[in-house]
Amino acid sequence: MKVEVITLFPGFFEGVFGQSILRRAQEAGALEPCIHDLREFTTDRHGQADDYRYGGGPGMLLRPEPLFGAFERILSKAESRPLVIYPTPQGEPFTQAAADELARQRHLVFLCGHYKGVDQRVVERWVDREYSIGDYVLTGGETAVAVMVDAAVRLIPGVLGDADSARSDSFRSGGLDGPHYTRPDVTRGLRVPGVLVSGHHRNIERWRRATARYLTRRRRPDLIDNKSG
Ligand code: ADE
Repeated sequence: MKVEVITLFPGFFEGVFGQSILRRAQEAGALEPCIHDLREFTTDRHGQADDYRYGGGPGMLLRPEPLFGAFERILSKAESRPLVIYPTPQGEPFTQAAADELARQRHLVFLCGHYKGVDQRVVERWVDREYSIGDYVLTGGETAVAVMVDAAVRLIPGVLGDADSARSDSFRSGGLDGPHYTRPDVTRGLRVPGVLVSGHHRNIERWRRATARYLTRRRRPDLIDNKSG
């Protein structure tokens, strides 16, 4: 999957794409990131990427011309139209289902807003999906892009080994995942629940389902209500 990011802060993504699963995905040929520095597409002498809002008020906006320039460059090199995503607190909630959709694409383009966001004409011309990663305001779209790329790339077949498979993730079954334990069976006087070391697979399955259901009911009753509604 080719993942292109338009950003004022290209250095942010060095760590994001340079570690762990996202790095392994590149080594395996499953992920090809390409970071575009928005500043390179500015057209005025000072390299100004932002400006005041028409109508007044505090907060700057990313100007349309550098963004249009970046999109036009990306599209001129693309074999087909990529899916374009704009992270914004005004977007639809980013969910596991949305991550599934992104994971199925061959080419994604993320547009990182800053300050008050971007000029709406850019959104109307180029953006296919607007997503929020939660009900809080970040300083820019970069952290949200890191979240979305991570959630999508780990779902690409072959990226995760069986050891860290995505099959049993929280949300796969509509609820949260339960607690897990590893060796040793006692540490600092704290014991692993007996059922997990009993070797009784049906009881282990039953315990895992019950603890997951309990946690979901306590912390995310909305997930249960959504399912029945
Ligand atoms: N940009 C700023 N805040 C955001 C949020 N909550 N989700 C996605 N993008 C954002």
